[in-house]
Amino acid sequence: MIEIVTELDALRARVSQWRREGLRVGFVPTMGNLHEGHFSLVRLARQHADRVVTSVFVNPTQFGPNEDFARYPRTPEADAKGLEAAGCDAMWLPTVETMYPYGAESTVRVQVPVVSETLEGAHRPGHFDGVATVVSRLFNQVRPDVAVFGRKDYQQLAVIRYMVRDLAFPLELVGADIVREANGLAMSSRNQYLSAQEREQAAGIHRCLQAMREAVQGGQAREDVETQARERLAATGFDPDYAVVRRPDLTVPAHGEGGAKVALIAARLGRTRLIDNLEFAVP
Ligand code: PAJ
Repeated sequence: MIEIVTELDALRARVSQWRREGLRVGFVPTMGNLHEGHFSLVRLARQHADRVVTSVFVNPTQFGPNEDFARYPRTPEADAKGLEAAGCDAMWLPTVETMYPYGAESTVRVQVPVVSETLEGAHRPGHFDGVATVVSRLFNQVRPDVAVFGRKDYQQLAVIRYMVRDLAFPLELVGADIVREANGLAMSSRNQYLSAQEREQAAGIHRCLQAMREAVQGGQAREDVETQARERLAATGFDPDYAVVRRPDLTVPAHGEGGAKVALIAARLGRTRLIDNLEFAVP
């Protein structure tokens, strides 16, 4: 049976008990409305740990004033069922007041420079400060040995990597592969906002990423690949925020050199903002 924990003392007691028993603790932070993508993280955490905690918390500090905090889908009962089936031992379900007892506005903030400022950070000012703040708090609440994040949010994983390194969090970070629908659309809680027709259309983002990969591997200049990708997205009904090819550290554009690359897209389809990426290598 999964244990649903809503008080910090109870969470600490449970995890301390596991530690006394010599068990390794895995952690998967989420904002709920869980899908196969999230459950794959829980299963991966299970492979790295003896017990798994998943947090479900829609974090107000990572949403901009005009973003979807209020309408973000909240489905805690279905989440608990799915987590139990995926092998999660405890669901950490704090309220906003439990998480930010002195107010979300006045909380101590964690800021990860440089990598937070580009791409998502440029289009969502303050977003990664909110993410780094809540994740560092969650790490201190749960005190996991290993934490699992999806590569779907590629830049988020990079931000957390720098944070863990610089603040010396004593834990291992594991990145998980992107889980997609049959048509290629990356699973996301925000896909809930899409109509059936938009879900088909949204799969165009993955096809565009694949086209970017092929163009770069075929020797086309990065700038041209990025321009073509933006045009292709606009021509197929998207409003793109960016379509870029970067080196894995994200802070420098990929130039002509070979090696590991990542193509990243953020684009709006109607009212819904979608992000996706594709990692590849250039020989
Ligand atoms: P959320 O969007 O709920 O995602 C929780 C975790 O699931 C993240 O690590 C994300 O990358 C991963 N994930 C989501 N969709 C995925 C997919 N299709 N395949 C693989 N992994 C997927 O990311 C957040 O919440 C928040 O920013 C959080 C880290 C919890 C801080 O509030």
